[in-house]
Amino acid sequence: MRRTDTCGGLRSSDIGRRACLQGWVRFSRDHGGVAFVDLADRYGITQVVFDPEDTAEADVDRIAGVMGTFARESAVSVEGIVRRRVEGTDDARNPTGEVELLVTDAVLLNRSASPPFEIGDQKEGVLPNEDTRMRYRYLDLRRTEMVGALAFRSRVVHLMRQYLERNSFLEVETPMLGRSTPEGARDYVVPSRRHPGKFYALPQSPQLFKQMLMVGGIDRYYQIARCFRDEDSRKDRQPEFTQIDMEMSFVDTEDILGTVEGMIAAVWEGLYGTELETPFPRIGYREAIERFGSDKPDMRYGLEFVKLTEVVRDAPYEIFKRIIGAGGIVAGINLGDRSSEVGRNEVDRYIQFAKDKAKLGGLTWMRCEDGVLTSNIAKYFTPGILEGIKQALKAEEGDLVFLIAGPWKATYEGGGILRRRIAEDLGLVPDDVFQFSWLVDCPMFEVDPVSGKHDAFHHPFVLPEGDIDAKDVGGACFDICLNGNELGSGSLRIHDAGLQRAVLKKIGMSDEEIERDFGWFIEALGYGAPPHGGIAMGVDRLIAILLGRDTIRDVIAFPKNKKAVSLLDNSPERIDDGKLEELQLLSLAADGLDLGDFDIDE
Ligand code: AMO
Repeated sequence: MRRTDTCGGLRSSDIGRRACLQGWVRFSRDHGGVAFVDLADRYGITQVVFDPEDTAEADVDRIAGVMGTFARESAVSVEGIVRRRVEGTDDARNPTGEVELLVTDAVLLNRSASPPFEIGDQKEGVLPNEDTRMRYRYLDLRRTEMVGALAFRSRVVHLMRQYLERNSFLEVETPMLGRSTPEGARDYVVPSRRHPGKFYALPQSPQLFKQMLMVGGIDRYYQIARCFRDEDSRKDRQPEFTQIDMEMSFVDTEDILGTVEGMIAAVWEGLYGTELETPFPRIGYREAIERFGSDKPDMRYGLEFVKLTEVVRDAPYEIFKRIIGAGGIVAGINLGDRSSEVGRNEVDRYIQFAKDKAKLGGLTWMRCEDGVLTSNIAKYFTPGILEGIKQALKAEEGDLVFLIAGPWKATYEGGGILRRRIAEDLGLVPDDVFQFSWLVDCPMFEVDPVSGKHDAFHHPFVLPEGDIDAKDVGGACFDICLNGNELGSGSLRIHDAGLQRAVLKKIGMSDEEIERDFGWFIEALGYGAPPHGGIAMGVDRLIAILLGRDTIRDVIAFPKNKKAVSLLDNSPERIDDGKLEELQLLSLAADGLDLGDFDIDE
């Protein structure tokens, strides 16, 4: 028997012809000797019927015997005639629901053990526990939702590739075994057997190699790149994940942003057949923090913060006085026409939430009643200042406003967490809107207020937009955001060897460390490195957001669980002493690891 059709393919136009389907027994039932099987594969489900009345007498016993062995999730092959379903039993929700296959022959290809969970459409959203799904991922993948996610992912990546190839990008693979690339996480390291005591690092990103490709004249590069970062798992983080990684030579920021917008618009057109509005809105880093309380602004709904520091500067309210005196800020948010849905109890809950979850020092509220802002602390504000707050927040009768106060970044970021919570509670977050945006005008460094230590805001290969010793120097970097998530980040890069050295020094590396870790890279910049720049976007994140999945684990075929464990193959796992000895790790650990240089001509 050879498969002629998939389980998603038969329609009423096929009625009367022979077909052979091969797939898995999702469900079977017996109606007085007539056997019904829902046969499934990744394309769909087709009803298969064995009816002794409609079967040649000589075949009845044999087929009945075979079908009797069709345990759930067994792989089977059935041949038969496509016929219309009995009136009233057709299923309009299923594309194959008008027809069924009347079996004339059946073979059990491979019997399935009793599955640990049901592989249906889990209509009530009752999924088995995630660890069980991961332990039996091959069964989980048979679920329509999982197959759909992988098919969607494959399509998105295909559309990206098409666009990039059309635009002269070359797909180039960069090494998995290399030196550490600083992206802010810990490395996964791989011991070298031939050079005992030495380790490769798996790439946190192809950053340095893609820059080398630019020095090598590749000019426009892309890669669907696997990256490895040893950091805590979260809903949007995995130890290994995939980037669509790009780099371009002789470009400015606009070229990169335009290329990415073009690529996403092409994906949109391919997926949904609609035109995505470009260019995406651009918002400066400071503005994003001050309006949305986040450097990944979610612009799908209002509830924006308004600066109130100047308005309340002279208020005799001790807490604000102290905060403003210490260089902090006060800002407010107006719940507007949804205010009546937030009563006194909810206000108290938000105050608690602000302290516990948003790490804010506190939360002040006021309500506009009889034309003035009233609250338990209104007495500490003069009528003029209350009026000023009211006007700044455009508060109308009945409106509830919240005020936050404290150090600039932490307060706005805490406010952003609160804003999101309020928006979710009030149902203000639309789940069918995809709002891309660019975060621009970012700083080059993040400076620790206490130690004065400089850290790269993105990474140390970003082109500074001025004198790196000047206060608040910007970096030519940008993030692409989608619905309040960071989707990717990129920048123009340093192509001057001296400047690269100076930036690495600025973030605290000694000359020796620079030489040891980046000497090879800086040397390459010295051979006519072109001005260049690029970006990397998280493929897993993009797919999860577009599909409305809560976690990227649901769009990765074989993810690790929250503890970075692969429950399917039980990794990570100890390796036996023999292998450790081969790598000389046991004796090296006993002796210390200093083995000197290896011979590169070996
Ligand atoms: P960055 O570190 O911002 O930039 O990473 C780019 C994007 O990769 C995704 N991402 C992740 N996705 C899942 N799990 C993770 N652990 C994880 N870490 C990052 C995010 C993120 O926005 N080399 C630079 C890019 C460049 O400058 O060209 C880089 O890797 O979506």
